[in-house]
Amino acid sequence: MTAILGISAFYHDSAAALVVDGQVVAAAQEERFTRKKHDHEFPVHAIQYCLEEAGLKPEQLDYVGFYDKPFLKFERLLETYLAFAPAGFRSFLTAMPLWLHQKLHLPREISRGLNHRYKKRYVFPEHHESHAASAFFPSPFDEAAILTLDGVGEWATATCGHGRGNRITLTHELHFPHSLGLLYSAFTYFCGFRVNSGEYKLMGLAPYGEPRYVDLIREKLIDLKDDGSFRMDMSYFNYCQGLTMTSKRFARLFGGPPRKPESPLTEREMDLAASIQRVTEQIVMRSARHVHRLTGLKNLCLAGGVALNCVSNGRMLREGPFEDIWIQPAAGDAGGALGVALFTWHQLLGNARRVGPTDSQQASLLGPSFSDEQVRRFLEACGARHRYFDDEDALCEHVAELIASEKVIGWMQGRTEFGPRALGSRSILGDARSRRMQSVMNLKIKFRESFRPFAPVVLRERVSEFFQMDDQQDSPYMLLVAPVAEEKRIAQNGAPEKGLDKLKAARSVVPAITHVDYSARVQTVDPERHGRLYKLMKAFERKTGCPVMINTSFNVRGEPIVCSPEHAHRCFMATNMDVLVMGNFVLHKEEQPDAREHPVDEYLAQFQLD
Ligand SMILES: [Fe+2]
Repeated sequence: MTAILGISAFYHDSAAALVVDGQVVAAAQEERFTRKKHDHEFPVHAIQYCLEEAGLKPEQLDYVGFYDKPFLKFERLLETYLAFAPAGFRSFLTAMPLWLHQKLHLPREISRGLNHRYKKRYVFPEHHESHAASAFFPSPFDEAAILTLDGVGEWATATCGHGRGNRITLTHELHFPHSLGLLYSAFTYFCGFRVNSGEYKLMGLAPYGEPRYVDLIREKLIDLKDDGSFRMDMSYFNYCQGLTMTSKRFARLFGGPPRKPESPLTEREMDLAASIQRVTEQIVMRSARHVHRLTGLKNLCLAGGVALNCVSNGRMLREGPFEDIWIQPAAGDAGGALGVALFTWHQLLGNARRVGPTDSQQASLLGPSFSDEQVRRFLEACGARHRYFDDEDALCEHVAELIASEKVIGWMQGRTEFGPRALGSRSILGDARSRRMQSVMNLKIKFRESFRPFAPVVLRERVSEFFQMDDQQDSPYMLLVAPVAEEKRIAQNGAPEKGLDKLKAARSVVPAITHVDYSARVQTVDPERHGRLYKLMKAFERKTGCPVMINTSFNVRGEPIVCSPEHAHRCFMATNMDVLVMGNFVLHKEEQPDAREHPVDEYLAQFQLD
């Protein structure tokens, strides 16, 4: 037996993954345990969980891999600092303690994290090798082109190459400071959202605006080549030498200082969001065409933070040049932990890779699960009133009925998701046909910005009826945005609305999941990957005729997705959620003895706004 532990840490989204004889046994993000979103600390809890899941002790591990090369990264930091010195001294000082105490002493840090019980080898591939490995090795392709699009690792910010059998080869790199990830993050910052977490919001905001700054961005900020590579004019940016992403010159170009976080959104931010989204798509499409020309292969594997831009993913799939695309669901740095473990097994140890008809990501349900016995013990200890269903069909009937009557359901089943999206294991579910659900869920349940769209889950066999997607199109990881089918849209009368007013109209027969530009971030649900969720959706379909529901992550704003029964129950009680389903147990809010005693503000205050 060969057991390989992969770790990513000290940047954002620390995580651990365990691969035993080539099988992914467990993978989890540290934030789910520590309840600190994007936790970057050494992933002690995630490692402990992975070992427990496999029944292994640290001394039984054969290899431990870290997802990038700390010395090379440090070299980049030093060289960048020297190039800009004396500017940048403050940001240099800010970064130093973590480097001097932890990042430059990784074997010591890892050894400590494993209680000094691991004495064997450490593996340090490059950042982008880890991303590329996480994209190709679990994919359903025997050979494929590979594209990684990211913020930055050591020096590379984007790479391309190919994977064949058990090997990946990266042939081209784009280097820091020129970076699509950092460019997108600069606009995220400028529009008043948090870097490394607000990128998703910027993408969601884009359809409210007009892409009126595209030419300005292309003229002033970046010089984009045919092959998708580009150079940025660094006088507009400040991330090499400063503590902010953009410079004063950037602000002058776009009509004033950055938006203050939490202040009202104006047309400028919406237009900037629309513009940088458009430019991102142009860069991604050129890169895709380039790697297609280079490799002549028909499939593509994708990872790195920019691979979470599901709008550009959807466009790439619709417009080619690739026949099929597989995207690592944990495309950000968490996925690097999985990447380094698989890289060690296949590429370094030379073990063969068998490709099945589906990917080997196992629906990305790779984290902790809780038995009915554990749930029961918890519920009894806290005095919660519950109903127990020993029959799965009866449970699904009951919950489907509740959803159809506009109840909002906290749904916790099986193993937690690995990656940033809730895929039906730790989800909040609701009726997509409801006109009021979008605002109810945003403002009363999740306590987040009203403009943010919700994503649908749809029965796989009916996906093409509701969305402009192929009959056979799978999107089990919610990484593709597709237009809602014409037949399901509702025609709009009168003058077109502007800005956030666009939210007022019902745009389709499933308004709660139809974004203002008629798009939706689709997750297909099939019986193989999501057994119980599929059954629930079938029950809902029988009652209502509708194969679509809302699926959003089980958390409030700023909170990591819930993991344990305790997290789920706390979130349920502190919000306006109506029903909590954990395994075979159902809790109704109005039946809970202390339903009114859980102050929402206090609960929200624990989590930093993201
Ligand atoms: Fe990365």
